[in-house]
Amino acid sequence: MTKLVSGFSKLSKNEKIDWLTATYLNGNTTAKNTIKQYWNSNEKLQSLHDDFIENTISNFYLPLGIAPNFDINGTIYTIPMVIEESSVVAAASKAAKFWQTRGGFKAEVVSTEKIGQVHFTYSGTFKDLQAFFNTIKPQILKDSKAITKNMEKRGGGILDIVLVNKTKDLKDYYQLHATFETLDAMGANFINSCLEQFATTLKNEATKLKGNLNVVMSILSNYVPNCIVKASVSCKIEELADKGINAEEFATKFVQAVNIAKVEPYRAVTHNKGIMNGVDAVVLATGNDFRAIEAGVHAYASKNGTYSSLTHAKIENGIFTFWIELPLALGTVGGLTKLHPLVKLALEVLGNPNAKQLMQIVAVAGLAQNFGALRSLTTTGIQEGHMKMHLMNILNQFEATKEEKTIIVEKFKTETVTHSAVVEAINGLRK
Ligand code: MEV
Repeated sequence: MTKLVSGFSKLSKNEKIDWLTATYLNGNTTAKNTIKQYWNSNEKLQSLHDDFIENTISNFYLPLGIAPNFDINGTIYTIPMVIEESSVVAAASKAAKFWQTRGGFKAEVVSTEKIGQVHFTYSGTFKDLQAFFNTIKPQILKDSKAITKNMEKRGGGILDIVLVNKTKDLKDYYQLHATFETLDAMGANFINSCLEQFATTLKNEATKLKGNLNVVMSILSNYVPNCIVKASVSCKIEELADKGINAEEFATKFVQAVNIAKVEPYRAVTHNKGIMNGVDAVVLATGNDFRAIEAGVHAYASKNGTYSSLTHAKIENGIFTFWIELPLALGTVGGLTKLHPLVKLALEVLGNPNAKQLMQIVAVAGLAQNFGALRSLTTTGIQEGHMKMHLMNILNQFEATKEEKTIIVEKFKTETVTHSAVVEAINGLRK
């Protein structure tokens, strides 16, 4: 049977499922039921989700958890987190509680500039192009007014447009490099619309120019090194003492662990992955684009030429300080923020933050996650806590009953969780 299909997007949802199951799943009715059991019985809600993307056949659940007790600049937050990995929400909650009694998290937005570029080629001289750009720049801005006027009314808009000569890197390659302030919007649509308008004006005006000018593309950049938030925690070394942890030893090892991630890319990637456990979970819960955030954050982690840690730690005059610096282009208006009922709710739980406040919350979630991971790694190791959290996944995998779960969870309160030990315990109960 051919697996090629034409006119697929025009099929109804049921027809798409029929085609999929007939082509890949032997027309299996169980497969059909698996797909359909995730449909929401509320038709309006289902249709809303169907329309988020194309060719929707079902919904794919991810757990929404909450991590309470975050003191950020003196306000207490409960942070919604969407993530499939066990231990992450627990680690966030634990770190929140730990720092709540030690001064809380401090966070500040350093800058909020977004970037977009029109990439084009030109066959003439840079001198001619620069003179041409200087004359048409007011026209470019004027032609964009219809797009920018609402944003300008709210205090945002285009910050600047500069011509960049990239011919050292690529023959005939130039850019219009534009900077924007998009306030509480992530700004992708606004920026891309502006850029496409810049490109149109550029092409129209280029008829007056000697040499050929060709626009290649116009698109925002997800690298936003001037849209930065900082978050930190700090306390006296002795205040780090906690349940059998020697404060001095812990602080020293912790700083060493961060310093290792600064100089060793293999470690830095995992270190930053742990940070992104917290960052992505809040970014997803608040309806933001986690791929954009991921791409931008990892580029920022390499800004000095080697991939390095996003967090920093120091001990100075008996004070332990741990901080993060992240580029985060986030929005609290537009996109899914009003559309997705759970996103709307998550934002409400956070007190309907503006974009700057959300940047702070997300950075804190990343810092808390990194604190939790490094605390485990430099003391007990992560497997102890992780396997305890993973226990429920193993029990569910073996379809343990409620009674079986209660007995086994109790048993592993005092024993080491390993996959085989849990399977053995299940089998023992079922004998
Ligand atoms: C696991 O998801 C994240 C960690 O590996 C992060 C780290 O090693 O710092 C625990």
